[in-house]
Amino acid sequence: EKGGWSSFMAKEVSEEPEAVANTLRGRIQDGAVVIPELADLDDLFTGIDRIIIIACGTASYAGQVGAYALEQWTRLPVHVELAHEFRYRDPVIDERSLVVSISQSGETMDTLMAVKYAAERGARTLSICNTQGATIPRESDAVVYTHAGPEVAVASTKAFVAQITAIYLLALHIGRVRGVLSPVEAAEHVRELEAVPGKIKRILDTEQEHTTQLAHWMADTRSVLFLGRHVGFPIALEGALKLKEISYIHAEGFAAGELKHGPIALIEAGQPVFVLVPSPRESSLLHDKVVSNIQEIRARGARVIVIAEEGDAAVLPFADEVLRIPLAGPLFEPLLAVVPLHIFAMGLATAKGLDVDQPRNLAKSVTVE
Ligand code: F6R
Repeated sequence: EKGGWSSFMAKEVSEEPEAVANTLRGRIQDGAVVIPELADLDDLFTGIDRIIIIACGTASYAGQVGAYALEQWTRLPVHVELAHEFRYRDPVIDERSLVVSISQSGETMDTLMAVKYAAERGARTLSICNTQGATIPRESDAVVYTHAGPEVAVASTKAFVAQITAIYLLALHIGRVRGVLSPVEAAEHVRELEAVPGKIKRILDTEQEHTTQLAHWMADTRSVLFLGRHVGFPIALEGALKLKEISYIHAEGFAAGELKHGPIALIEAGQPVFVLVPSPRESSLLHDKVVSNIQEIRARGARVIVIAEEGDAAVLPFADEVLRIPLAGPLFEPLLAVVPLHIFAMGLATAKGLDVDQPRNLAKSVTVE
């Protein structure tokens, strides 16, 4: 079933373009988002005053990325919470709350219990799920399936990009139903989404070898840090989780602005740090802040690996390595920037001779709380 691939993870990373394309398929008509599953739910979407996203692990990082788009395109307050924390703090939810759960398997017990809890409290529930007929979608008022195809490797990769795609579709749908987005604005975002599969493909074609080589050089590394701002922050967390999970290396993701509040003390000569650099085109402010973060860590001896947009030359003087991603709008960069991080984690685990599909102590589906 692996075809010619060395692992399911390698196969699944190579399927990231299709995971996005298949999740979009049949849901766009003449530049507008049309989600058949949500056709009769306009009253639900006009009747809510907040959105809460619940998920675990990688799915929660997809939720964190999605929250930026949901908030921007619906102007509803959105917050993201780990499913296993959600019900232990008496959250403020009622029938005007939409609780969106994200789960590849649709069987994660922590997430399922949080969905049930939300429903008992009267909230509306919608699940984003990759598995037809799984328990979580069955317990929810509505479902938007991701069409990533079966994911076998324990570490989630293609499901992650499909989850972000599905939340973006949902956000565009709600934004239109609530009259926040104009058809023209929505169509612009749809065009960006439709361009994502081709751009991921390009990263796989152009950056795979360099990223894998880098991972091999770093096979003896004991710790890797990841920095990002805005939508780059959850991608930093995802990069770190993937590395811990399959290569058993200490890894941490930070919001770049948090550096000076503590984590910069970790930086010493040779410490590898991945930095996700936002595009300079849309927000030079955000971009320049990240570049100055890079200068701060470089001055303290960090080995800086930058993930930056093609053509961004400002990073060159301060980077030891540069991995390039194609140009995209700010909200669409996470779908691209995560790809080298998936390749890197896989490359490093492979360099250490580990089983990338079956990391120790982990199961694909966590069906206990
Ligand atoms: C990380 C990973 C896990 C899952 C998490 C939720 O690579 O795979 O963190 O994302 O256990 O699983 P689902 O999405 O099935 O609820």
